[in-house]
Amino acid sequence: MEKQKLIAQGKAKSMYETDMAKTLLMEFRDDASAFDGKKISALNNKGKVNNQFNAFILNKLEEEGIETHFIKTISNNESLVKRLDMFPIECVVRNRATGSLCRRLGVEDGLILEPPLFEFFLKNDQLGDPLINENHILSFKWANQEEIDAMKSMTFKVNQILRQLFDQANLILVDYKLEFGKFENKILLGDEFTPDGCRLWDKDTLEKLDKDRFRQDLGDVIESYQEVANRLGIQINLD
Ligand code: C5P
Repeated sequence: MEKQKLIAQGKAKSMYETDMAKTLLMEFRDDASAFDGKKISALNNKGKVNNQFNAFILNKLEEEGIETHFIKTISNNESLVKRLDMFPIECVVRNRATGSLCRRLGVEDGLILEPPLFEFFLKNDQLGDPLINENHILSFKWANQEEIDAMKSMTFKVNQILRQLFDQANLILVDYKLEFGKFENKILLGDEFTPDGCRLWDKDTLEKLDKDRFRQDLGDVIESYQEVANRLGIQINLD
């Protein structure tokens, strides 16, 4: 397999074409960013930790019946994935209120949300990823009703699977963001699931073990990601 042209560069990952059709190489870099790219830093080993964390979670989701773009890891910080046609939408589920929800609605931080709250955001850094609803998605033709329903039901199913997984590691899955795309007319989970795109709190102390450590300058960012990986039994190779 040959790494070819760089086709997209996000804030923490780069996507390359390969010599295999319909397949991309996803490289996790050490870069960290927050607040729509206003805060940027490089964190040693982040790429390797996140690549292997993502592989473990997406494999677990596949085992539980969620179809994803993930094929396999090909190095400590690179994976092979199916090339999706991405929806410009972020799907967020919240089991507890925190972050932008508290800023927007003034609700108490840590409030348990039952049923869990689902929100759509438009993936657009320049606009600050605004909150949208299904009517925006339909009117602007970002997805059709069937696709909206599929993304929502897959995002909730991920919640059932991962809440339990993290609970067994003495962690609360507070919230997370997923992105989906189309591959041969099927909707697959794309992007990544790592502590960069979710919030995880220790069940006893409510200590944050996710990207909020970077956002809020709490220190030990990658050490915390590794702590989560350890608790899940993920062997991270940093060679
Ligand atoms: O910022 P907010 O509270 O809306 O984030 C909700 C969840 O979605 C968090 O877990 C956050 O890490 C994730 N998220 C993300 N990428 C974004 C926006 C939110 O991974 N662009």
